[in-house]
Amino acid sequence: MKREDQKKAAAEAALEFIEWDMVIGVGTGSTADYFIDSLVKVKNKLDGAVASSVNTAERLKRHNIPVLELTDTGDLPLYVDGADEATRHLHLIKGGGGALTREKIVAAASEKFICIADESKLVDVLGTFPLPIEVIPMARSFIGRQLVKLGGQPELRASFTTDNGNLIIDVHNLSIINPVELEESLDHIAGVVTNGIFARRSADVLLLGTESGVEEITVS
Ligand code: 5RP
Repeated sequence: MKREDQKKAAAEAALEFIEWDMVIGVGTGSTADYFIDSLVKVKNKLDGAVASSVNTAERLKRHNIPVLELTDTGDLPLYVDGADEATRHLHLIKGGGGALTREKIVAAASEKFICIADESKLVDVLGTFPLPIEVIPMARSFIGRQLVKLGGQPELRASFTTDNGNLIIDVHNLSIINPVELEESLDHIAGVVTNGIFARRSADVLLLGTESGVEEITVS
């Protein structure tokens, strides 16, 4: 299976987790887009969806799926989203699409987080993909200096503003041996809004599209 077919297969497999009358959280990116497109088949079951980005909200609306606000729904039973990297411990790097803050909020507010990805995303150790960090604009140089002290090479994402009006710094060459610890220490740098390590609230299930079908990975 080609990469795009693997993404589609993982997205389709996530439909199994949808039950009647659910309001679900929906992620951002090309794999999440395949999920939104396949949601059409089961949209009668849904009461609505909470979007993790403006792009996702627009795509859901195009499919006539009601878009609700997290402030109105309360916690959600299910969140489905892609990832830039995932380990078999279900730790992730996210934010390649720049939606990491809203994604982290919706993931935190959800009982079950299903990550959908093609097999190129599976890694032993996180960090080959540059780690996205959303920052308050006035803090960008200060944060850049702190990231250098941590051994990373920060690069401001060019011509990009998040849905929250902030900037993204992509950090190269960080060694993410202990994702839970690094996630926490990056969040403590003044001016950091969110970092793209999803380890404290990791995924609960990884649906990985592979050459031979969809592998379901959980941590017991
Ligand atoms: C967006 C994300 C995406 O989930 C991540 O970038 C994966 O995207 P794709 O499914 O297009 O490979 O975190 O902020």
